[in-house]
Parts: sequence; structure tokens; C-alpha cells
Amino acid sequence: MQISVQGGDVLATSSGLAVALVHDATTLPKVIAAAFEAGDFTGAANQSLMVYPRSKGAPSRVLLVGLGAKKGIDAERIRQAAATAVRQARGAQVADITLGVATDVALPAAALGQALAEGLELGAYRWFGGRTGISDAESHEIASVTVLTGKQIKALGEGVAVGQAIAGGTNFARDLVNTPGVDKTPPQLAQRAVELGERMPSIEVTVYDEVRLEKEGFGGILAVGKGSDSPPRFIIMEYGKQFKGAPTVCLVGKGLTFDSGGLNIKPAEGMETMKNDMGGSAAVFGTMQAVADLGLEIHLVGLVPSAENMPSGRSYRPGDVVTTLSGKTIEILNTDAEGRVILSDGLHFAGRYKPNAIVELSTLTGAVIIALGNVATAVMATDQSLADQLVAAGQSSGDKAWQLPLWDEYHQMVKSENADLRNLAGRAAGSITAGAFLSAFAGKYPFAHLDIAGTAWLDAPTKPYLPKGGSGAGVRLVTEFLRNLTA
Ligand code: BES
Ligand code: MN
Ligand code: ZN
Repeated sequence: MQISVQGGDVLATSSGLAVALVHDATTLPKVIAAAFEAGDFTGAANQSLMVYPRSKGAPSRVLLVGLGAKKGIDAERIRQAAATAVRQARGAQVADITLGVATDVALPAAALGQALAEGLELGAYRWFGGRTGISDAESHEIASVTVLTGKQIKALGEGVAVGQAIAGGTNFARDLVNTPGVDKTPPQLAQRAVELGERMPSIEVTVYDEVRLEKEGFGGILAVGKGSDSPPRFIIMEYGKQFKGAPTVCLVGKGLTFDSGGLNIKPAEGMETMKNDMGGSAAVFGTMQAVADLGLEIHLVGLVPSAENMPSGRSYRPGDVVTTLSGKTIEILNTDAEGRVILSDGLHFAGRYKPNAIVELSTLTGAVIIALGNVATAVMATDQSLADQLVAAGQSSGDKAWQLPLWDEYHQMVKSENADLRNLAGRAAGSITAGAFLSAFAGKYPFAHLDIAGTAWLDAPTKPYLPKGGSGAGVRLVTEFLRNLTA
């Protein structure tokens, strides 16, 4: 979608469809005020109403969208209203719209532009999958949005560009998550990374195939990948090596392209959603794209261990002891706790970059859904300042994160009699013991684990800009964290 910013008043500029984001106390021109006066429109958050002014120079149609109470309008309300607007406008089958925001909204212009662009681009996102025979009316998209403003055109425009980069990365992640497992086997997922590198030449992409993994001793990835006919991969994406003195951050994302559970097979119900088990890698792909698009001055390395967890005569077994890249051994007690096994190699590999921080994202545990639902991502960290920064970035980006502790008691729970660690520690504190397990492979580097099992996939839409299916969780959160690092 083309989003541009121009000077002007949306209610006094002719347009096929004008969108006005207004709050409960907005004073509207008389021709439109009737809707308020009649009580048909109150300005409540995400309420919308089409009105038809009949005056010269005015738009022929105005879509009023509510921002809620004037006091308390923040980026999140703007994002939601913009998403509501684009979906309603699309339903009206118009291609080009103008858009204005109540002039007394107290948000800095850059933040306003960013939130508008995020709402528009995220709200317009759709996944048609393999459906055929979709009508032109159904597949209709808004081609252009012209934001009309009375002031700060430049700052607003800069904010729009930031929002579009972040939303673009988020929608890329959503596409990857929504793609069926058959179309994103580890080699195919690696191909998506290669294409990302072609699209964004500032990202250098390297892929290790199964031969290389064997040679270098990526025992965790190989063990989990053994049961599948599609071989595992390790994907390396590097950006910003040339920025001397800039911080180095490693992002590690779980790229489990389909999680059947392996020999400890999962129940039939809901297994189809386990194509989302590469949501962590999708967030890394999307963040790499957004950061490259923004041109952030940071050295960012994206690492994705990728495998498919399948039951077969070649599968790894409960009771197996696996030697990982780090040399540390893992006793496999349940083949369905595979994420931490492939991540062990990725986290150890991150140490080669001597990073200032390792941020790892994974759809790791069902337990995190019990703890936080689909509302927030869980953060576990070995460094409190890193945890604080991520929680704060969650707050300001709207891609929420909440901390769980990694106390020594939890580290004790993942010790094994037969190996250095065991991949299962029982139901109690299931998300935290998984985090404790992972931290053993991050070495001395400040490490944060983001469990996105509850947030990466939504069974139903939860906000106007969060549709059913892949949500792109983590992209907005981590990009915000990285922007704050470079600010
Ligand atoms: N990929 C799953 C976790 C998951 C669950 C992601 C629900 C998204 C939605 C992970 O590999 C897994 O199977 N975890 C097990 C761990 C258990 C065997 C210790 C779980 O959470 O049940
Ligand atoms: Mn599993
Ligand atoms: Zn899994």
C-alpha cells in the first residue's frame, strides 16, 4: 500500500472516500456533526460509520472511525482505529482514500505516523492460502492512502516510513507462519532466507546443509531432524558488520517447520496448527527485514536452527543422549520437547559473534499459554537490564512482553543423571524450566528468551490489526528494542 503525507484538511478536500479518525470530543463540521447529534456515532474506540456530506468541496463519503475517549489516546488506539478504517474502506471497494486524524490528538507526529502506518498495513493483512475462485471484490485492496495533516508533514512522513518497515517485517513473518508445513520444509525455509538476502542486499545469508551440520557437530539440530525425510538446516543472516562500534545483537529463532511431537506424538486435535512452530524464526526473518529496511546502525545476526520433528524408524528416541555443538550433552526424555534441543546449537553458535546480547524467540511451551494466554510473550533473562528493555519495548510497541524468573531452583530442575541436562522437567513451571535449559547454552553473554507460543498464533482475531493465524509476534517488540539500542 502506498502511504503518503500531504498538507490539508481531510473534511475539506474532495475525495472518493475520506477517513476521519475522531474521538468522543471532536468538533466536526455541521454536515457531519449530525451523526454525533443523532447518537449514531459516539467516537467510541473502533466504532465506524459512513456519512455522506452534501456540500461543495467536501468528500462525497466520510468514514468516521472512533478513537475512544480523548484522554488516553495513545499509539495503540491509533493503530487499532487505522486498522478498522482500512478494513471498512476495503469493504467499500474504493482504491484510494484520504485520511485525517483529529487535530487535538496529543501524540508526537513521528509516533502518530508510525502508528497509522502500522495499523493500515497490519489491518490490511490477509491470508488466502490455497483457496481458488476468489472474486475481485473479495481480493480488493486499498492501493493508496493520502494522510492529510495541518502540521509537521515531514515528521509524520518519517513516522509512516518507520511504521511501514515494521509492519512489512511483521506481515512477512505472518506469511511464513501461515504457510503449510509441506511448503516450508527446512530447505525451503532456508530458501526464504536466501530470497530475503536478494531482496535486501545488506543482509548476507549463509545456509549450512546436513553435511555441514554433521561435520561441525550440530548434534541437537541433527537429532531432532533425523525422523524427517526433509533434512535440517542452519540459517545465518548477518547485517551491519560494517558499523564499527555499534552493538552486536544475535537473534536466534526456533525454525521447527512442523512439530508432530516425533515418537512422543501429539494428539490429533489441533496438530495442524503446529506449522506455527517456526514462529520464532519468522520473527527473526521479519525483524532482519525491518532493521535492514530502516537502515539501523547495529550489527545484527539472525540465527535459525531449522528441522522438522517427525516420527519414523530414524527418529531420535526418548532415552537417547545427544551431544550438542557446545559439547554439552542432553538426555532426551520426551521427543516433543524438541525446540530446546535445536536451539541449544543455535545459542552456542551465537557465542562466535561475542554479542552484547542474545535474544532468542521460540514457540517453546504450551505452558506459557496457560500463564499469559495470547496476550503477552514471556521474557526470561540472565540479565535484568536486558529483560527490562524488552518489557519496555513490549509496552511501547504494543507487542507485549512480561517477565518470568530464572532462579537457581529452576536450573536445578533441568539437571540429568545421564547427561548434563534433561529436556523435560515435568509440568511444574514448564515455561521457566525450558528457559533455564536454554540459558545453559548462551554462555557468558547477556541472554533473553522470548516464549511466543501463546502470541505467535491466534485462533481468532484479537484486535483489528491482529487477524486469525500467524500474528508476526516478536517483530514489533524486537525491532523496537533494537531501535532503542541505537537511539
Ligand atoms: N512447539 C511446542 C510448544 C507449543 C505448544 C507451541 C502450543 C505452540 C502452541 C513444543 O515443542 C512442545 O511440544 N512443548 C511441549 C513440551 C513438553 C513435552 C515438555 C509442551 O509444551 O507440551
Ligand atoms: Mn514439541
Ligand atoms: Zn515445538
